[in-house]
Amino acid sequence: MKPPKRLQSLLEEGLIDSVVRQLMSGKEAQVFVVRCGDDTRCAKVYKDATQRSFRQAVDYTENRKVKNTRQARAMAKGTRFGREATEAAWQSAEVDALYRLAGAGVRVPTPYNFCDGVLLMELVTDANGDAAPRLNDVAFSEVEARTHHATLIAEVVRMLCAGIVHGDLSEFNILLAADGPVIIDLPQAVDAAGNNHAQRMLLRDVDNLRDFFGRFAPDLLPTAYGPEIWSLFERGALLPDAVLTGRFEAAAGPVDVGGVMREIDDARAEDAARRLRMQAAS
Ligand SMILES: Nc1ncnc2c1ncn2[C@@H]1O[C@H](COP(=O)(O)OP(=O)(O)O)[C@@H](O)[C@H]1O
Ligand SMILES: [Mg+2]
Repeated sequence: MKPPKRLQSLLEEGLIDSVVRQLMSGKEAQVFVVRCGDDTRCAKVYKDATQRSFRQAVDYTENRKVKNTRQARAMAKGTRFGREATEAAWQSAEVDALYRLAGAGVRVPTPYNFCDGVLLMELVTDANGDAAPRLNDVAFSEVEARTHHATLIAEVVRMLCAGIVHGDLSEFNILLAADGPVIIDLPQAVDAAGNNHAQRMLLRDVDNLRDFFGRFAPDLLPTAYGPEIWSLFERGALLPDAVLTGRFEAAAGPVDVGGVMREIDDARAEDAARRLRMQAAS
């Protein structure tokens, strides 16, 4: 095909040799199949901020790392320099997340390059070498659904152990490759420790997996992997190979105010006794 304008500079730089065709155009980006030497790869061209939809909400950009305070101030004020910085931070967030997750052993497309707002990465393929379908376009048997659900829950755990919550995980952002599910589309990924919305996003991601695979395997519907994973994470006890049950007991019933007051009184009494002993000793 005739190469689109946004890929011109990558052709000139020799980062890609030709553009084969356009894959599905999503909400926030256009994705092309490109040739690089003997390899077939995938080029994700981010749309301009003005053409994008919801994901630059404060939720996602909270605590994004910026280079310096001038940049931070400009981003907060929304000056042109600020908007450009916001834009760059948004696009590079996906590249950062891909490198971090690949390093943590999560199955994501291998990133190759990021240039002029274009991400070059592995083309995820099916058994025939064609671009892999999204989960949403595939039907599963009950057994397959349970297997893929378990695989993806383990991936969510590995991501969280690497400090990342996807934030938009669903059947639309997971491809079914020849070797199993591959998680894509990460510009909104958030820092699990530094973002106040991380918990809510993790729970929503895990609910989306449950609801999707639950259509094929209804016994997944009552599971509660999200709260179980988050509670382990919060206690610093989440490991990449955690064995989960899918069951979660919320902390027991109403708060026992009387009991708490008694604890406080006991501590006071103990402290008073200690002071008395110290006085007596001196
Ligand atoms: N690495 C990849 N390999 C194969 N197909 C991809 C790849 N990345 C994206 N796609 C295709 O392009 C579509 C849009 O990409 P995505 O990263 O989800 O962007 P958007 O923000 O527009 O949803 C995906 O649904 C998928 O079909
Ligand atoms: Mg998408």
